[in-house]
Amino acid sequence: MNVSENYRNAWESYWRETSDGRGEAIWDADPSLSAAPHSDLLLPHADTGRTIVDLGCGNGTQTRYLATRFARAVGVDLSHAAVEHARRAANGGPVEFQQLDLTDTDAVRALHQRLGDSHVYMRAVIHQSEPAARPAVAAAVAELIGTEGRAFVVELTSGSRDVLRRAAAEPGGPGPKLQRVFHHGLKPADAPDEEIPQLLVKAGLAVLAEGETTLPQTEHLADGTRIDLPARWFVLAGA
Ligand SMILES: C[S@@+](CC[C@H](N)C(=O)[O-])C[C@H]1O[C@@H](n2cnc3c(N)ncnc32)[C@H](O)[C@@H]1O
Repeated sequence: MNVSENYRNAWESYWRETSDGRGEAIWDADPSLSAAPHSDLLLPHADTGRTIVDLGCGNGTQTRYLATRFARAVGVDLSHAAVEHARRAANGGPVEFQQLDLTDTDAVRALHQRLGDSHVYMRAVIHQSEPAARPAVAAAVAELIGTEGRAFVVELTSGSRDVLRRAAAEPGGPGPKLQRVFHHGLKPADAPDEEIPQLLVKAGLAVLAEGETTLPQTEHLADGTRIDLPARWFVLAGA
């Protein structure tokens, strides 16, 4: 299957209207708050000599960090505009970016054939995917890690909806970065909490470790509090 035209256009227009500035996407946190602690959770289960693929990499901020911890990092994203952001930011560095729809089974299989069993990093992709597309996104994780790779997946939980509702109900309305998310019709934390682990297991993945965390955002409430969205992380192997 492939994602719907509406969904594809929503992401394309979101990324076209987002500047290259650091932190311009609300989730574009510094890697010290994201890919760094996430790598620390993955590395007890994974060898650094293997390629890591960042699924739904956006502007590639986390991918560039992953390239400092693993032999090679490849970022893939549905949106052409996101991949262009990521390539500009990489500025010739040792990372590679490719446009790819995770629900395109043939494209994911071809990527696996090209890279071999790889580690996977996936931050905040399933929670907002269209319900019909979610199983294929989970299956892409399983395909890319094969038997030898390991995956780190972190997704928003339902507690994020309350935080976002509070942020949207601020006296001045939501901040500009959150407003842009809603304006393009994106649906953060849409997936029910129990669905994500179920999808991962149904895709043939075994959970090696899991836990709760938050994903710090780059926007603050009027009182200066940073918006931190509740999330759950999983380290996974092929079952
Ligand atoms: C919330 S953003 C997170 C971006 C990045 N992972 C990060 O943490 O900075 C979700 C990203 O997933 C991408 N995405 C959504 N559905 C996808 C799909 N089916 N295939 C590939 N990328 C997808 C979007 O274009 C967007 O860049």
